Amino acid sequence: MKVAVFSTKPYDREFLAAANGKAGHDLQFLDVRLALETVPLAQGAEAICAFVNDDLSKPVLEALRGLGIRLVALRSAGFNNVDLEAARDLGIKVARVPAYSPHAVAEHTVALILALNRKIHRAYNRVREGNFALEGLLGFDLHGKTVGIVGTGKIGEALARILAGFGCRLLANDPVPNPACERLGAAYVPREEIFAQSDILSLHCPLTPDTHHMIRAETLPLLKPGMMLINTSRGAVIETRSVIRGLKEGIIGSLGLDVYEEEADLFFEDLSDRFIRDDVFARLLTFPNVLITGHQAFFTREALT
Ligand code: NAI
Repeated sequence: MKVAVFSTKPYDREFLAAANGKAGHDLQFLDVRLALETVPLAQGAEAICAFVNDDLSKPVLEALRGLGIRLVALRSAGFNNVDLEAARDLGIKVARVPAYSPHAVAEHTVALILALNRKIHRAYNRVREGNFALEGLLGFDLHGKTVGIVGTGKIGEALARILAGFGCRLLANDPVPNPACERLGAAYVPREEIFAQSDILSLHCPLTPDTHHMIRAETLPLLKPGMMLINTSRGAVIETRSVIRGLKEGIIGSLGLDVYEEEADLFFEDLSDRFIRDDVFARLLTFPNVLITGHQAFFTREALT
C-alpha cells in the first residue's frame, strides 16, 4: 500500500522503515505538516500517516477522500486533531496508537514532579558553576502529600501505581472510575474537590470540549494555593495566560509541562539559532519554577472508525 507519511523527522523515517521491513508498504516520507494546502502531496496514496500537529479537520479529510484516501493511521494516542464524525461519514478508517507505553508517560510525569520539587534543573546549573548554596532549593516530602490525577485511564493508572509507592494520598477525577486505581487507594472526587485538595495536580485526560481550558481564570481560585500543576496530556487542557497569572500570584507554586497549547510552531523543531516568537511561551521560560519538555517521544494500533 502506498502511504503518505506527514510531519516526519529522521527518527520517524528510521523506525517506520525498519517496522515496514516485511510489510513492504511504499512509504512516502514528507517533512511537511498535513494541512489543506499540503493534501495534494498525498496524490496516489491509499493511506496517510499523521502526527499530533497534523490537521485532520473535515475540509482536510474531504480533500484526502477526494484523492482516494481510505485510511488515516495516527502515530499518536491522542486524536483530538481528527474530526472522527467526518471521517466516519466519508468512509475513512482512522487508527491510532492505542497506548504509547503508558509507563513512559507516567514515569516522565514523575520525573517532572521530582525535578520541580527538588529543583534539580537549578541545582544542576548551580553546581556546574561551583555554586553550592542551598537557598531556593528547598523541596518537600512527597510522602503523605495529596496528588490529584485527572483522567485515570492507562497513563493515570500507571502514575497512581508509582505514586502509591511514594506514600502519596491519591485523589482521582474521571467520569469512568478505574477499579485498579480504587484498589490503590485513590478516592474519586468531583473536579472542584480535586482542585481544592491536591498539593500536586496531574492531568491525564484527553482533550475534549469538557476538558478544554480546564485550568483557566475562573478555575484558578479553586486550586490549593502553592500547588504543583503538571500537564502531560494536551496543551489546551490549560489556558496558558491564566496559568502565568496563577504563577505570578503564587496560586500555582510550580508548573511542569510536556505539552503546550500553541506547540505546533515550536515543538519537534530545533529553533536554537532563532528567537521564540511566541511571547506567552517565552514568558513561561522566565520562571525558575517552570519546567518544560517538548513532547517527549514515548513510542502498538487500534481502530477508531
Ligand atoms: P486513556 O484513554 O487510557 O485514558 C483517558 C482517561 O481520561 C479515561 O479514563 C477517560 O474516562 C478520562 N476522561 C475522559 N474525559 C474526562 C474528563 N472530562 N475528566 C476527567 N477524565 C476524563 O488515555 P491514556 O493513554 O491514559 O492517555 C491520556 C492522554 O494523554 C491522551 O488522551 C493524550 O492526550 C495524552 N498523551 C500524551 C502523550 C505525550 O506525549 N505527552 C503521549 C500519550 C498520550
